[in-house]
Amino acid sequence: MASERLDVLVVGGGAREHALVRSLAKSPRIGRLIGAPGNPGIEGDAVNLAVAAEDVPSLVAFVERERIDLTVVGPEAPLVAGLADQLRYRGFAVFGPGLTGARLEGSKAFAKEVMEAAGVPNAHADVFTDHDRALAYLHKHGAPVVVKADGLAAGKGVMVALTMEEAEAALKECFVARRFGDAADMVLIEEYLQGEEVSLLSIVSGEQILPLAPAQDYKRALDGDAGANTGGMGSYSPVPRVEDALYERLVDEVVRPTVAELVRRGIDYRGVLYAGLMLTDHGPEVLEFNCRFGDPETQALLPRLESDLLEILWAAARGDLLPPTVQWGSGAAVSVVMASRGYPGPGPKGDVITGIEEAWGVEGVEVFQAGTRLGAGRKLVTAGGRVLTVTGLGDSFAQARARAYEGVAAIDFAGAHYRTDIALRAEEWEKQH
Ligand code: AMP
Ligand code: GLY
Repeated sequence: MASERLDVLVVGGGAREHALVRSLAKSPRIGRLIGAPGNPGIEGDAVNLAVAAEDVPSLVAFVERERIDLTVVGPEAPLVAGLADQLRYRGFAVFGPGLTGARLEGSKAFAKEVMEAAGVPNAHADVFTDHDRALAYLHKHGAPVVVKADGLAAGKGVMVALTMEEAEAALKECFVARRFGDAADMVLIEEYLQGEEVSLLSIVSGEQILPLAPAQDYKRALDGDAGANTGGMGSYSPVPRVEDALYERLVDEVVRPTVAELVRRGIDYRGVLYAGLMLTDHGPEVLEFNCRFGDPETQALLPRLESDLLEILWAAARGDLLPPTVQWGSGAAVSVVMASRGYPGPGPKGDVITGIEEAWGVEGVEVFQAGTRLGAGRKLVTAGGRVLTVTGLGDSFAQARARAYEGVAAIDFAGAHYRTDIALRAEEWEKQH
């Protein structure tokens, strides 16, 4: 029984899912591996199924028809839409929380309520359902503040407002322009925090917690953290400034009490609990929870993983015993996102991409595809804002960075744009310690 092969469906089609598929493909127990919708990179290790990640009925029908052993859900939307519950109800194993657990990401107000009940340090916020009241509060409180749509808004519902004008404009977007639709029926006005951000992802299964290495991502479009907020322009892992004592503290003060509170509420959470943290002068505070693997953190985390990812996700999905720790390989991983011109705004599509094989040829480099598709003559062309992620592995951050950027230099498409300072902080920290 233990050695039976497992058929696995990975839901999603970005660089995160490409990294998941590559890690799962390495398992000696992997059977059929399918990506829905997948992408041309995922096709190297899996079969693409032309079903969108949000198409819950078609995904459920596929799992039933093909008797898929394990479904691994990449993005949040299908989780918040109840994909995991629908599969579990039919007796299929899923890595990803059900509706109630996914509310940690699907409702920022709910996440606050859980954190308050659990005594987890988090940025203070007030919740509003009405423009006038929100405005009155804002005038009393003053800027800077962070205005957040309660629900899912494709990563665009968080507006850091340094001035009163920006804060007023953000409230207008939510309540008057209704830019986020129902997702902004409730709006949080949150205390503005400063410090360094860390992402701590843990595999959770019921009461069991398996924390992964810390990671850091880069949200702004341009070097030096300038420019617009994006879905993520790069990441690295581990985070040297998160030394063992701080890591233990994050697990003990954030992850354990949150999971205990979920258990207390009768939520059998099986998936990734992603804590987005700010390391402030007063200690760590939670900015947000996500209910899934981070993108682009996953592209830096998984290439270093030496444990069998399939065994871990399978155990978590079934509520079996998790291993006490995970094994990590090379010292450092640096992931650089290459985007299309204009990203995060709209930009050109259909530009030919060259050099991916050359980049794979660089020692310690892996390339994960996202916004790509096969165009005329089966040539790989751009098909979205974030086109791909190049990860460099090394013994040190200096080496991992050099390799990642050597990989980036090998790849070309019209208007390719990327940050040149990913993991520079880690490299500098490494030099000084
Ligand atoms: P999110 O879309 O929730 O990942 O938030 C996007 C980014 O907004 C975070 O990564 C932070 O850089 C920033 N942010 C969120 N909440 C706060 C806060 N309370 N104070 C300062 N920055 C924040
Ligand atoms: N890296 C941020 C996210 O996945 O939401």
